[in-house]
Amino acid sequence: TRRLQAVDLIKRKAEGRKIIALTAYHAHTANIVDSYCDFVLVGDSLGMVMHGMESTLPVTLEMMILQAQAVMRGTARALVVVDMPFGSYEASREQAFLNAARVLKETGAGAVKLEGGARFAETVAFLTERGVPVMGHIGLTPQSVNTMGGFKVQGHGAGDEDRLRADARAISEAGAFAIVMEGIVEPVARAIATDPSIRAATIGIGATAACDGQILVLEDMLGLSDRVPKFVKSYGSLRAHIEEAVRAYADEVLAGRFPADGHTYPPR
Ligand code: KIV
Ligand code: NA
Repeated sequence: TRRLQAVDLIKRKAEGRKIIALTAYHAHTANIVDSYCDFVLVGDSLGMVMHGMESTLPVTLEMMILQAQAVMRGTARALVVVDMPFGSYEASREQAFLNAARVLKETGAGAVKLEGGARFAETVAFLTERGVPVMGHIGLTPQSVNTMGGFKVQGHGAGDEDRLRADARAISEAGAFAIVMEGIVEPVARAIATDPSIRAATIGIGATAACDGQILVLEDMLGLSDRVPKFVKSYGSLRAHIEEAVRAYADEVLAGRFPADGHTYPPR
C-alpha cells in the first residue's frame, strides 16, 4: 500500500469524505494512529507536550527532523506532515525552501506546515512550485503568542471574518493543499470552511465541525497532558492509567513481590 499524498486530501474534500488527523511525535504512537488517520502531523506542539516548554517558540528544526524520522519509521499508510518551527521560514521564501527541503530530504515526510495567512502566500507558492506540498495554519497561530498577547480565540473582532477569509483564500490560491484552522469562533470558521472558492482542505482544531477534517494533539485527547484547551475532547485517561500502573509497581517493589520467579533467570 502506498502512502497517502497531499493531493489525496484535496480528493477527500471533493468527495465530501471527512479527513482524520492526529499529531504524533514517537514511532509507537505514530504506529497506532497510522491506520486510522489520513495524515499524521509532527507538530511543533512537541515542545510543550514532550519537553514541557512554555510555548512552541524554542523548538528547533533539528528537533522537528528527529521526531519526524521517528514518525516515518512508525507509519506506512498516512501522509506525514511536519511543522516548520518558529524562525525557520519567516525571513524569506528562500529560507523557507532550504529548510523545508531539509525536512523532506532528511525525513521522507510528504509535506510541511507553516503558520500564517496572506503574508505567507508568496512563500507557499514558492515552495509548492518547487515540489514542497504546504499545509497552511490560520486563526490562533501559537508561534505568534507574543504578538497575539496570549493564546486567544480568533474572529471576535470587527473585520476578523474578512481578514481570516482572505488569509484562507490567499494560501489556497497560492497552492496550499490544506489549511489548519485553529481557535476560530464558530460562525466565522463555518463561513470559511464552507466557502466554495477555497480549494484547500480545511482542518479544524477548536474550529467548526463544518471543516473538511479534524485534528487534535494526541496526548491531549488521550488524557495525558496536564492542561488542555477547552476545544479538546477527552477520549481516554492515560494519565490515570499510567499512574495506577506506576503505583502498583512501586508497591510491589517495596513489598518484595516484584520481581517474582517468572521474571528472573533460574540456573541452567
Ligand atoms: O503543533 C501542533 O500540534 C499543531 C496542531 C495543533 C495543528 O500545529
Ligand atoms: Na504547530
